Amino acid sequence: MSKITAAITAVNGYVPDYVLTNHELETMVETNDEWITTRTGIKERRILKGEGLATSDMAVPAVEGLLKKRGISAEEIDLIIFCTTTPDMPFPATANVLAHKIGAKNAWGYDLQAACSGFIFGLTTGAQFIESGKHKKVLIVGGDKMSSIINYQDRATCIIFGDGCGCALLEPNTEGYGIIDTVMKSDGAGAQLLFQKAGGSLHPATHQTVDAKEHYAYQEGQAVFKFAVTNMADVAAEVLERNNLSGDDIAWLVPHQANKRIIDATANRIGLTPEKVIVNIERYGNTTNGTIPLCLWEWESKFKKGDNLILAAFGGGFTWGSIFLKWAY
Ligand code: UT7
Repeated sequence: MSKITAAITAVNGYVPDYVLTNHELETMVETNDEWITTRTGIKERRILKGEGLATSDMAVPAVEGLLKKRGISAEEIDLIIFCTTTPDMPFPATANVLAHKIGAKNAWGYDLQAACSGFIFGLTTGAQFIESGKHKKVLIVGGDKMSSIINYQDRATCIIFGDGCGCALLEPNTEGYGIIDTVMKSDGAGAQLLFQKAGGSLHPATHQTVDAKEHYAYQEGQAVFKFAVTNMADVAAEVLERNNLSGDDIAWLVPHQANKRIIDATANRIGLTPEKVIVNIERYGNTTNGTIPLCLWEWESKFKKGDNLILAAFGGGFTWGSIFLKWAY
């Protein structure tokens, strides 16, 4: 029997309607469009507005659209891995909430927390269930309502992040398409450089933690930038090297969208020209777990069967990694 690989067979995405522009941010914090554009590449980001709306509410339209595209019902899904840093609630898992909302009655599921690397950690994890033969349809969802943990008085974070959600379906392939190689890394030494201090078991939410604004994301931007710019490029280069690939062999780089300068550094390092690099940061900012699936969704029509894709991400934790996959449709 030929080897089973886990192939992406459908992708979809959802972004909320509300557009928060750099110009609107200028009215909220001391910043300006020119600074944000040149330092990050971001012009605007989407915000999920409205009472009672959470991360799962972006996942529902994304996943329902995916099922429709693939022509399958929710009941056919075996497993849902929901990669998120802003779950609807600390527990139960947002994967369970989503399964209930879409009617995925036969799926089990869990949440995966790896900050901005979540989606590629999710693909890597989900692929194991396909490769082993255990499951036939594994849904990987990556999404965040970052606006729920952002302090819109903190210009170090509020200019970067946005809300959005994407998803991909993994199915078995025996023709050599799909996920070929992955390199995933973590280093807890970076934990205090990008984190949400309160709300967990170390500092449960109290009036004091809220007054001190410790329920918001905190980032030492410059320090994170230094780690991100080298590690994301290094790990992408490592995947190419392990698979005897050069930039010429790669059709597309699908990078996490944290900062255009980090994306450019990664592309340069692996020898890719700009037209092979997927960038939508100017419209969505950093949607954390949402960036990579939103890129796949927006570029889906340009991909050709057999295209070599390199996915790469870096995020809080620290976590980082890269995936080499052959597009399957
Ligand atoms: O997605 C997961 C991982 N996260 C990342 O990869 C993000 C990595 N970090 C970054 O993208 C960048 O560090 C930021 C975009 C967050 C910040 O850019 P930077 O080039 O590192 O800026 P900086 O913090 O070094 O600040 C440079 C200057 C400072 O002024 P002085 O001291 O040079 O006068 C800041 O006070 O820019 C000032 N500044 C701002 N000015 C206008 C910092 N933030 C802003 C702002 N608007 N929002």
